[in-house]
Amino acid sequence: MILVTGGAGYIGSHVNKELNKQGYETVVLDNLSYGHDDFVKWGTLERVDLSNTREIRRVFQDYAFEAVLHFAAFTYVGESVENPQKYYLNNLRNTLNLLEVMLEFEVKKLVFSSTCATYGDPIEIPITEEHPQTPINPYGRGKLMMEQILRDYSQAYGLRYASLRYFNAAGADPDGEVGEMHNPETHLIPLILDAALGKREAIKIFGTDYPTEDGTCIRDYIHVTDLADAHIKALKYLENRGESDVFNLGNGNGFSVREVIEEARKVTGREIKAIETDRRPGDPPILVGSSEKAREILKWQPRFYDLSQIISTAWKWHENLKKRDKGT
Ligand code: UFG
Repeated sequence: MILVTGGAGYIGSHVNKELNKQGYETVVLDNLSYGHDDFVKWGTLERVDLSNTREIRRVFQDYAFEAVLHFAAFTYVGESVENPQKYYLNNLRNTLNLLEVMLEFEVKKLVFSSTCATYGDPIEIPITEEHPQTPINPYGRGKLMMEQILRDYSQAYGLRYASLRYFNAAGADPDGEVGEMHNPETHLIPLILDAALGKREAIKIFGTDYPTEDGTCIRDYIHVTDLADAHIKALKYLENRGESDVFNLGNGNGFSVREVIEEARKVTGREIKAIETDRRPGDPPILVGSSEKAREILKWQPRFYDLSQIISTAWKWHENLKKRDKGT
């Protein structure tokens, strides 16, 4: 049995699907603060908040877990600057609660959701795992602190972990069963698709004076189904006695904001109005990762590396959501 915390969220729900597809049994632990109970289409849902150690213990008593995949976390960078306590309590303290119970029950395999936000403003592109980690916001700092704590726990208690540093997760399950549904939505691709559907008037381009070819920020968009596959491979790596390690998960290709909008126009066949505005504070100009290590050690190979595939799957999901909103 595998425990998937945050399995009702965007990335967690895709991984939960993939785990079940590959024959694993899962329990999803989620407080549903941002997650959606109808995303838990596989396994059993336990509605528990990780601040409640007693309840975590109860779940560990009820099931015999072999490993934990830990997605439950807040992920709004801007909010983490305004309200760091919210982030440190949930992403740090509550993760320590989870680890406490894991150790009590001798569950010693963990796949941890980390982020490219632990690198801060990159000094070298593509970013490898050896790049210095100097995060520039509390969200990234909390994730980095957790990585450091995991290293200590691994040495002291024999916990084995794979810390996966995601670049920009995007796209949706190609079968349309789960997808991206944040509230509020802040991510580029879903906002562009909202504009395509007429749910928003336009997409704002945050900054056109960056030192990039077209002046807009470049990001490494990685399909959520490829991320899901990497988690299964990381789990198998730990099952096969792999040592604790960290892995970047990105596409290796960067796309500018303008390129993403242009591609979305092609995929959707809609006009999509774009408005140029000021920079959003805290956005590095370019984030592109090297995932060579995951390719070599985990034998991971992204399948949806094409931007049009990423946007197409997201578009299919968005169109269905709109139909569902309308009740058709
Ligand atoms: N952008 C716009 N207009 C928008 C929204 C975004 O131009 O309306 C631009 C941003 O400025 C950025 C790019 O599109 O250049 C992507 O922005 P996202 O908000 O989609 O994603 P981020 O690059 O900000 O993602 C970051 C980190 C991740 C982290 C994530 C958490 O790269 O590591 O925030 O939400 F996990």
